[in-house]
Amino acid sequence: MFLSDLWYFGATSAQLADGQHLHVELLGQPVLIGRGFDGEVFALRDICPHRAILLSGGRLVEREGETLVECPYHGWRFTTGGKCAGIPSLTEQQAAERDISKIGTKSFHVREQQGLIWIYQGDDAPNHDPIWLDMVGETTPKLTTSTVFDCHVDHAVIGLMDPAHIGFIHRQWWWRTEKSMHEKAKKFGPVTRGFTMLPHVPSSNSFLYRLLGSKPQTEIRFQLPGIRVEYIEVGGRHVVGFTAVTPVNQNKTRISISMYWDHPVMGLFPKALVKKGLDTFVGQDRDAVNAQQKGLAYDPKLMLIHDADVQAKWYFSLKKAWEEAKQSGTEFSNPVRAKTLHWRS
Ligand code: FES
Ligand SMILES: [Fe+2]
Repeated sequence: MFLSDLWYFGATSAQLADGQHLHVELLGQPVLIGRGFDGEVFALRDICPHRAILLSGGRLVEREGETLVECPYHGWRFTTGGKCAGIPSLTEQQAAERDISKIGTKSFHVREQQGLIWIYQGDDAPNHDPIWLDMVGETTPKLTTSTVFDCHVDHAVIGLMDPAHIGFIHRQWWWRTEKSMHEKAKKFGPVTRGFTMLPHVPSSNSFLYRLLGSKPQTEIRFQLPGIRVEYIEVGGRHVVGFTAVTPVNQNKTRISISMYWDHPVMGLFPKALVKKGLDTFVGQDRDAVNAQQKGLAYDPKLMLIHDADVQAKWYFSLKKAWEEAKQSGTEFSNPVRAKTLHWRS
């Protein structure tokens, strides 16, 4: 099962012009994400209540200034709130006798901010806001990319936060090599629904960090359900990397990356090259977790060791605490305590 009562990343703003829509699978459910002709984003369960065809196979139409979703099969129309607003086959009398607004498909709470569209998963109204990125203000991403891992969300999350694989899976010259491994000590502390690797001067074994300038400071935050944000600050300029690890279903997980920056060094590279670098990097993680599925198929016992796997342990304890709080109806309390972790990478 997946965590509920949380905001999940749905799509980037740039994916939807006015009057457009798209289909995503999110937590094993089909979701239509659309942008009305007024620019407002909405999300509906992507199944027609009539005979279950995907509504996203249809189109958005405008009627008296209102945006409606028209089913491709028999043309039933739905408001952006999911209520039925028209059944073409009804005679005038049948339409007068029947309250079609009682028919509908579920609608989700959505938020659009900083070029990201968030979809709330939960039965009640949200009691918190989606994650707001520091340092980027109201700007939108300069670059986005995404890929799907063939694994459960947990393996994707811990695979991405795991520091010990870096010298083995990511050996490209511009990042680091097995030989450049050395002992690290990183300070961590709790943040809202997660933990952070507190601001520090990053490892000098990365060519990329060296390129950014004299003394970059980085902070890496992880928050439920699976949001990792890396903040890099050099002399008042920034590079921010947002990664959403979102369950598609039990066996597929989407990794969506959005980069924001105002650091001039980033302007030296063609965006296509930066994207290629990112795709190479994430592709290596994908190949590793996909290969791991062959072993996991035999349901072996797994180990988490100190201190390289402590972040993975925190992820599981955060999930557990979140679920327990929901079940008992009590306030979530963050189980992570401030700690310095030591490992070689
Ligand atoms: S299936 Fe949608 S209108 Fe019939
Ligand atoms: Fe990795």
